[in-house]
Amino acid sequence: MSCLKYPNLFKPIKIGNTVFRNRIFSSPTGHSDMTADGKHSEDAIAYYERKSIGGAAAVTLGEAVVDSKYGYQYPAQIRLDGSRSMSTLARIADNISRHGAVASIELQHAGMGATPTPGNPVYGPSPCTVGGLEVKEMPEEIIWEIVEKFAKAALFVKSMGFGMVTVHAGHGWLLNQFFAPRLNKRTDKWGGSAENRARFAVEVVDAIHRLCGSGFPVEVRISGTECNDVGYGIEGGIEFARQLDGHADIIHVSVGCSTGLNTRNNVFSHTHPSMFLEDGVNVKYAAEIKKHVKISKVATVGALTDPAMMEEIIASGKADIVEMARGLICDPDLPVKTLSGREDEIIHCMRCMSCFSNAMSKGHLFCALNPVTNRERYLNQPLSTTVKHRVLVVGGGIGGMQAALTAAKYGHEVILCEKSGRLGGKLLCEEKVPFKVHLKQYIETQAHLISKAAIDLHLNTEVTPEYAKSVGADVIIAAIGSKPEVPCIEGINGKNVLSAEEAFASPEKVESSAVIIGAGLVGLEL
Ligand SMILES: Cc1cc2nc3c(=O)[nH]c(=O)nc-3n(C[C@H](O)[C@H](O)[C@H](O)COP(=O)(O)O)c2cc1C
Ligand code: SF4
Repeated sequence: MSCLKYPNLFKPIKIGNTVFRNRIFSSPTGHSDMTADGKHSEDAIAYYERKSIGGAAAVTLGEAVVDSKYGYQYPAQIRLDGSRSMSTLARIADNISRHGAVASIELQHAGMGATPTPGNPVYGPSPCTVGGLEVKEMPEEIIWEIVEKFAKAALFVKSMGFGMVTVHAGHGWLLNQFFAPRLNKRTDKWGGSAENRARFAVEVVDAIHRLCGSGFPVEVRISGTECNDVGYGIEGGIEFARQLDGHADIIHVSVGCSTGLNTRNNVFSHTHPSMFLEDGVNVKYAAEIKKHVKISKVATVGALTDPAMMEEIIASGKADIVEMARGLICDPDLPVKTLSGREDEIIHCMRCMSCFSNAMSKGHLFCALNPVTNRERYLNQPLSTTVKHRVLVVGGGIGGMQAALTAAKYGHEVILCEKSGRLGGKLLCEEKVPFKVHLKQYIETQAHLISKAAIDLHLNTEVTPEYAKSVGADVIIAAIGSKPEVPCIEGINGKNVLSAEEAFASPEKVESSAVIIGAGLVGLEL
């Protein structure tokens, strides 16, 4: 479908034998919501399907292990060298494909980052010790065994209905370890020159094409720079891409490699750009690599959600494809909203990383802004509205705004009352914080959506019991926020003591020197 405003972003692209409907790909995301026997849960299946419904051209499942013996890292990983995940993978591929996206899956081997399996060593490119664990140099016969395992895994997922594979050669995993000179000290044909260090990745791609057919799209995810002080920089990324050029169909330029370092957190916040970094912060690496790549397509990723920026990236030739992970977790409908001229309805990810931490700590990939993420099975189906209720929502903070929008979407009659003169509640105090620009944008978008929805909004309206009675609501939703717990400290009520909320809202009240009590997230931000 053509789009006059974003003609490049919505221009289909043929890769191998496959036509992708536009240039927006859903970057690999793993899903820790797995059943005990290693299959995706029903919620995880719906999560991936939802991205295809929203219009992405490809939807990629994260880190699936090709080699359970030497390459597996954590329990919630799909293993492709057994048949355990067969039935759910076929369903995921089918559910993604039927809405028009190409289903892809990321093939991964952890190498020296692997969890040792009983009786087997951990192999990396060169001998070393990582976290007290001995890593042995990978013998050549094991290298070839793993090349074959990648290819067999690709053939397996192809037979399950996947239309592409994404080989993980970045983020410090095995193929990245072989390319990184600080980790690969070999003197045989798998080490030394860029050609030798990239050989493993190139052999993997060629083996996949041999087994799955040359027209089967193979994307290779690399780190365009390690993003640390001791590893390779963009020159290394260019070298890696040059070696892959013409072998990989797509060179997907991510960033970051922290394997063997103690600086994991710094690298992590570049791989998953934090809210302190600017939009599209990693595009420059893909753009630089694209200048040196002649045959393969180049994809960029990281902190992208602005359609105009993505259009410019494609139009100016910085990349052929834009990929988003969190942008589509936060709003899977971003592509379809953009295509249909509803950019004003896009909920932009604020890069808080709650999704990631929820996935790690709770096993559920919940988003701070999108209540439907990981609840697609329940919340995408309108609840029974055979009885239309009159719903009074008390409080126009983020909870109240979303409650009003959801109730209106399901066909109820909604009255939203906010005591102050503006929607946004507690979070309004942070609207001037420069790195929270997307939080401010979120509040504005929600307020805009409320103005467009069938919601009867009353600002400057305090809901008293009499008022509530006069409304005659069937349901009252109390979204009245919370008050901070003030510790019992002598002098805490003094004029020179400010709450975090006051300090954010009126920074001029903070004198030239200040003591911040509490070094949690809020204290650190202040
Ligand atoms: C919840 C979550 C899970 C992810 N899982 C994977 C994964 O399995 N494999 C991978 O290569 N990257 C993974 N990523 C990284 C993303 O693919 C992407 O590179 C990164 O989030 C930056 O893009 P973004 O700013 O659009 O989110 C994950 C990111 C998130 C937020
Ligand atoms: S939880 Fe935060 S970082 Fe993750 S998608 Fe939602 S807004 Fe973005």
